[in-house]
Amino acid sequence: MPDTRLLFLIPVDALTATKTSFDMTTYEQIFENNRIWIESKTKNDAAFFEKLAKEQHPDYLYIGCSDSRVPANEIMGLEPGEVFVHRNVANLVCSIDLNVMSSINYAVRFLKVKHVIVCGHYNCGGVKAAMQPKDLGILNPWLRNIRDVYRLHKEELNAITDESERYNRLVELNVQEQCVNVIKLASVQQEYMHHGYPRVHGWVFDLKSGMLKDLKLDFDKILHDIQEIYKLTD
Ligand code: CO
Repeated sequence: MPDTRLLFLIPVDALTATKTSFDMTTYEQIFENNRIWIESKTKNDAAFFEKLAKEQHPDYLYIGCSDSRVPANEIMGLEPGEVFVHRNVANLVCSIDLNVMSSINYAVRFLKVKHVIVCGHYNCGGVKAAMQPKDLGILNPWLRNIRDVYRLHKEELNAITDESERYNRLVELNVQEQCVNVIKLASVQQEYMHHGYPRVHGWVFDLKSGMLKDLKLDFDKILHDIQEIYKLTD
């Protein structure tokens, strides 16, 4: 029997839904999947988990959206240990969010990652919600960050008449501005000055094709430009 105290937390359509084309994996199946995964990892390398448990030396920090359709390791073809991951709704880098700030600080100062990636995705629900000019309750302060991106790029965005194209462009501009937020950080500027890394990259994942698009942001130019105001290397 499900715990009836929790029922009010579950959307009604989730309780009544029949199986969709996604055919959700059952809870029990996950542990069977885990057993099969362990077997696959140790088949060619018996010491796989022994090595995994020792330490991590990832070259990449990935900051992406929490959306279940964008699995970080999988889309990059990277194994456990190769990428440090932080995910939140709409891949935001907000300076008063201790969660993302702690992840970046640890990855940059201690793991010494070579690349920081902010990866957004088209069809992002968070970005879509931010495009609606209405009160969305508890989401307001979080979505404010995306609405600020819209305000910064209002002229370019308002000139795009097709709504889905405007939405796609906001996804890209949001990634760009979150990259700028990463480059504003003292940890990133200081490590880059001393070691020549990390470099910061903006990507967008296309759910319809599975393609990762590199926005090819000019890291050196952004760093140079923002240091006029946000120089934190001294
Ligand atoms: Co999203």
